[in-house]
Amino acid sequence: MALQHLSVGEIAVILPGATAVFRRHKIDFCCQGDVLLSSEAERRGLDLSAIEAELHGLESPGEPAPAETAELIAHIIERYHKVHRREFPAVIEMARRVESVHQARSDCPRGLGDLLSRMFEDLEDHQHKEEAVLFPAMINGMGPVLRHPIARMMQDHVELGELLAFMADLTDDFVPPEGACGTWRALYAGCSKLDADLREHVHLENNILFRRFL
Ligand SMILES: [Fe+2]
Ligand SMILES: [Fe+2]
Repeated sequence: MALQHLSVGEIAVILPGATAVFRRHKIDFCCQGDVLLSSEAERRGLDLSAIEAELHGLESPGEPAPAETAELIAHIIERYHKVHRREFPAVIEMARRVESVHQARSDCPRGLGDLLSRMFEDLEDHQHKEEAVLFPAMINGMGPVLRHPIARMMQDHVELGELLAFMADLTDDFVPPEGACGTWRALYAGCSKLDADLREHVHLENNILFRRFL
């Protein structure tokens, strides 16, 4: 896809995750969203091909999960833990903005910002426990003793699933209403990306990694 011929607002809608790339390069994809990516790069003296490479990276389906435990854990941290940490703040900020600007509309996703913040807080606590305690123990070859910590992590995953269902309800399954602005559409695309990534992340842990220790 030739991204340079699309506006940054269009890219933010069709490529979930692009908003995090734009935010990092301080490219305004909402108020100035109708600017072409190529024009914006030229005006700001940004490296267009480097930004396009980052955006195309978001489109790739990704490598298959590694078979070896230490590699699988490294993959989970790089591809999911770090990506959630990077993407949640931008989505929360968009939710707060949409809720404040469109509060008079009946289809405004009231409470979405609070829900996302709670989800991010819970997730950060959970990921920290995995990174600091559980994953190192797995890499060090500990076995049956991990059953209880793993059960606790799986309970957290169940609670995350409930919050994801609530997020899908609030956003009408990530379908923006008629006449939604660019930020609103980018918000739902971002929520949909979070949902897809979080589900893939939990799948790798529950169904692949954790099973090796149960
Ligand atoms: Fe995790
Ligand atoms: Fe987890």
